[in-house]
This record gives sequence, structure tokens and C-alpha cells, in this order.
Amino acid sequence: MNQDKVEKYRAPIRILHWVHTVAFVTLFFTGLVLFVPQLGFLAQDSWTRVIHRIAAVVFIIAPLIYLTLDFKGAVRGVKMAFTWSGEDLGWLKAAPGYYFFGNEKGMPPQGSLNTGQKLWWFIVIVFGVVFAITGLLLWFGRAALSAQAVLWLIFWHDVAFIVSGAMLLLHVYLGVLHPMMTESWSAMASGKISREYARTHHGKWYAEISKSRES
Ligand code: HEM
Ligand code: HEM
Repeated sequence: MNQDKVEKYRAPIRILHWVHTVAFVTLFFTGLVLFVPQLGFLAQDSWTRVIHRIAAVVFIIAPLIYLTLDFKGAVRGVKMAFTWSGEDLGWLKAAPGYYFFGNEKGMPPQGSLNTGQKLWWFIVIVFGVVFAITGLLLWFGRAALSAQAVLWLIFWHDVAFIVSGAMLLLHVYLGVLHPMMTESWSAMASGKISREYARTHHGKWYAEISKSRES
């Protein structure tokens, strides 16, 4: 590996990310035509509903395949999303100054995911489960459920749609456009970032990997 670069995301996780992205964006737009009454005419011949179900299968199966390939890594990743400390509070306090005014001083050193990225990862897991449970019940259980239960399922499916859709816009902005996140894209495209970027953006993680390399 190029000595000036460190690996942030390995190939399997990058493949999962991009497969999941295609599935999610497809689900988002085929869901949108059901959500917005004025777009209902697009769902009339049911093609969008069929596509929604095909994308849903990919959305559910892709992470399950990853789980069978790297169970330990997946468990470690999930633990990361659910482990929060005082440092995360420090990051949340310092984040507006950092992202709006470029003030790096107050930012506590971060792990391989910063607090904001961890929060997105947390939302992806929690709402991924909500999408899957409510969606599968709407798909296969509709006939057996009361009208009120169906309304509740649609309500929670819609909550997940609104929250994760809004957060996705922020995720894409921070990952692709924000002037401070200069190597975010290459982290997910090639898997690698410069040592300097790792040191300044993920100081705690960089210290850990530098130590394990030395020993
Ligand atoms: C995880 C797997 C998913 C499954 C199994 C699933 C399944 C379904 C089903 C069966 C419906 C009812 C469609 C119909 O009436 O024909 C539906 C509606 C919908 N889905 Fe999904 N879905 C999933 C994920 C997603 C995701 C990730 C999004 C958005 C990002 C999404 C957005 C929507 C929306 C907005 C609706 C319309 C709800 C309404 O009528 O207000 N779904 N989904
Ligand atoms: C729509 C286009 C998308 C783009 C352009 C995009 C871009 C990126 C980039 C550049 C990173 C690396 C960030 C870094 O390490 O500095 C990343 C990470 C990540 N992405 Fe995406 N992504 C997209 C969609 C999605 C979707 C749909 C999901 C989930 C369903 C998702 C989940 C994640 C997660 C959990 C991470 C790791 C945590 C984080 O960095 O926020 N992404 N993405």
C-alpha cells in the first residue's frame, strides 16, 4: 500500500455501501410516488410497486450476506454505532463551529467514525430494521391485519422514510461537498485516505493504527 495512505474502508464494506445506496435510492423514489398523492399516477400500473419490492429484497439481503462473510467485523461495527461517551457530547458541541466556521480547536480527536458519522450509522441500523419489519408486514401480512394495524405500519414506514431521507441529504452533502471533508469521497470510492487526513479528522483511530503498526 502507498505509505502516505491508510485504508479506511475495505472492499467488501464499500461494495455493500454502494449496493445498499442503489437499493435505498430506488426504494426512496418508488416509495415517493406512493407517498405523494399527486405522483400516484406513476404507480398506477403497479410497476413502481414491483420495483419497490425487488429493491427491498436487495436492501435486506445485502447486509445479511455481509454478516455471513465477516460476522465479527459486522458485530464490531454495530457495537460502534451503539457506543456513546462524553467525547461524543464534546463533538456535538464543537461541530457547529467546525462545520460552519472552520474552527478546529474545540474538536475532540475522533475514532474511525466521527460522532456525526456514528449517528448516521445508528439511524441506518435502527430505521433499516423499522423499514424491513413494517415493509415485510405490509407486503405479506396485509390480509391478516386490521385496517388500524396497517395504518400504524404505514405510519412507521413513513417516519423512517422522512427521517432517513432527510439525513441522507445531509450525509451526501457532508460526504461529497463540504469543504472540510476533502477526502471523504475517496474514503468510500478507493477505500484510502492520506495519513494527514486520518490524523486531523480521525486522530484517535490514527493513533491506534499507528501504534499497532509499530508493535
Ligand atoms: C426494507 C425493506 C422494505 C420493504 C420490504 C418495503 C415494503 C413496502 C411495501 C410493501 C409498501 C406498500 C406498497 C404498496 O402499497 O404497494 C411500501 C410503501 C412505501 N415504502 Fe417501502 N419497503 C422497504 C423499504 C423502504 C425504504 C428504504 C424506503 C424509503 C427510503 C421506503 C419508502 C416507502 C414509502 C414512502 C412507501 C409509501 C407509504 C405510504 O403509502 O405512505 N420503503 N414499502
Ligand atoms: C446517495 C449517495 C451516497 C453517497 C454519495 C454516499 C457517500 C458516502 C461517503 C463519501 C462516505 C465516507 C465518509 C467518510 O468516511 O468520510 C460514506 C459513508 C457511509 N455511508 Fe454513504 N453515501 C450515500 C448513500 C448512503 C446510503 C443510502 C446509506 C445507508 C442506507 C449510507 C450509509 C453510509 C454509512 C453508514 C457510512 C459510514 C458512516 C459515515 O461515514 O457517515 N450511505 N457514504
